[in-house]
Amino acid sequence: MAKPKLSFACQNCGAVHNKWSGHCDACGGWNTITEEIQASAPANTLKAKPVRGNVVEFVDLKGQNAPLPRASSGIGEWDRVTGGGLVPGSVTLIGGDPGIGKSTLLLQLVAALAHKNLNCAYISGEEAIDQVRLRARRLGLEQSPVHLAAATSVRDIVATLEPQKGQKNPYDLVVIDSIQTMFVDLIESAPGTVGQVRAATSELIRLAKTHNITVLIVGHVTKEGTIAGPRVLEHMVDTVLYFEGDRGHQFRILRGVKNRFGPTDEIGVFEMGGKGLAEVPNPSALFLAERRERISGSAVLAALEGTRPVLVEVQALVAPTTYSAPKRAVVGYDSNRLSMILAVLEARCGIMFSGQDVYLNIAGGLKIAEPAADLAVAAALCSALSGVAIAGDAIIFGEIGLSGEIRPVPQPDLRLKEAEKLGFKSAFIPQGKAKPAGAMQAHTFSTLDDFVRFLRG
Ligand code: TYD
Ligand code: MG
Repeated sequence: MAKPKLSFACQNCGAVHNKWSGHCDACGGWNTITEEIQASAPANTLKAKPVRGNVVEFVDLKGQNAPLPRASSGIGEWDRVTGGGLVPGSVTLIGGDPGIGKSTLLLQLVAALAHKNLNCAYISGEEAIDQVRLRARRLGLEQSPVHLAAATSVRDIVATLEPQKGQKNPYDLVVIDSIQTMFVDLIESAPGTVGQVRAATSELIRLAKTHNITVLIVGHVTKEGTIAGPRVLEHMVDTVLYFEGDRGHQFRILRGVKNRFGPTDEIGVFEMGGKGLAEVPNPSALFLAERRERISGSAVLAALEGTRPVLVEVQALVAPTTYSAPKRAVVGYDSNRLSMILAVLEARCGIMFSGQDVYLNIAGGLKIAEPAADLAVAAALCSALSGVAIAGDAIIFGEIGLSGEIRPVPQPDLRLKEAEKLGFKSAFIPQGKAKPAGAMQAHTFSTLDDFVRFLRG
């Protein structure tokens, strides 16, 4: 027998290295590389058997497909993120920090689907049956016809879910909580290593595709390198959703990252409460609930998440620095983008932040990545520096270019409509075709310099 080959895989990104090192060159992670035994594949497998392959058949692109039969759960936020519900035979990965609420979300989901006459199984490798039952009772779901099991062997799980010859599937949908606890007995490394989670996932994918069973896989996002994170599985599955949020806040955001059957970039907003996760149909009102008006350094941004406008508060604080290199700290925003906006404010508008520490926070635990946030960030920064509050009934959006110009952003009308619905009276926006309807007043700007001068009065 060939000697098993040793390899060194990064548990964060899955990159394979020839030797151990403290730093992964592929993803930049520290201390994430561990030793793994590689299942050795025979060399030149295709050539080993000199048999001609079958001819692959081609069809025209223009043929008609039947519409995808989706299982809508009735949980609106979930259904929107998945593009109308789960497709039978699809494999979905739900990633998120430990304790964020993945098990809670999936238990609520399978309960809802089980009530719609889907045969659902929930397999927990982490918690004992009693713990899952306790949670179900807390959620008021103990009457749901969901089948529970505690198992970690993928061989056992596949044998249980596979239909007997000539019979129909015992289960239409299965939740695997979590992939890091599952193991395939053919592989020698411990559960949670890159090799194990990949092997377990590919077994489950094979099961899903051959028998048309919907599979939902939970993957913990891990900070330290001892167990493999969900990123190493993203390329294998059909759909990747991340469940995010701040443990200090009750909001949770379900974000589509990849979807072979629907849109990505959609978000679903939930609120974690005493009875589990509740849908938040109007997130803007929630994110702005704790806002205090007439405070300097606060600006309301009309952001867009997928197809949906969300109003959030951008908060900035500027304080004289005691360091030789002033501090720039961000929560919920990209620090490179902040540096860029600070540089444009200094170079094009003459507003100096060099002797100041700058803190920027997106209130409510939301993460904003779109360039349309630039103008609101700039406004919050200027207001924090000058101590002059921005009008409390104004919303802001616009992209800033390096030459100090303000550029239009996608879907301005949607953003304005949402702001109007929530009672905002004015909008500071880029020059363009967008016009607020109703009583709202728009102030348009083409350069950051104009905007800064306007803020100063
Ligand atoms: P859980 O679903 O176990 O997280 P994960 O599977 O992502 O690790 O959720 C755990 C947290 O959620 C836990 O800290 C308690 C909290 N929680 C509530 O606040 N309300 C509830 O009704 C439930 C079930 C959990
Ligand atoms: Mg869990």
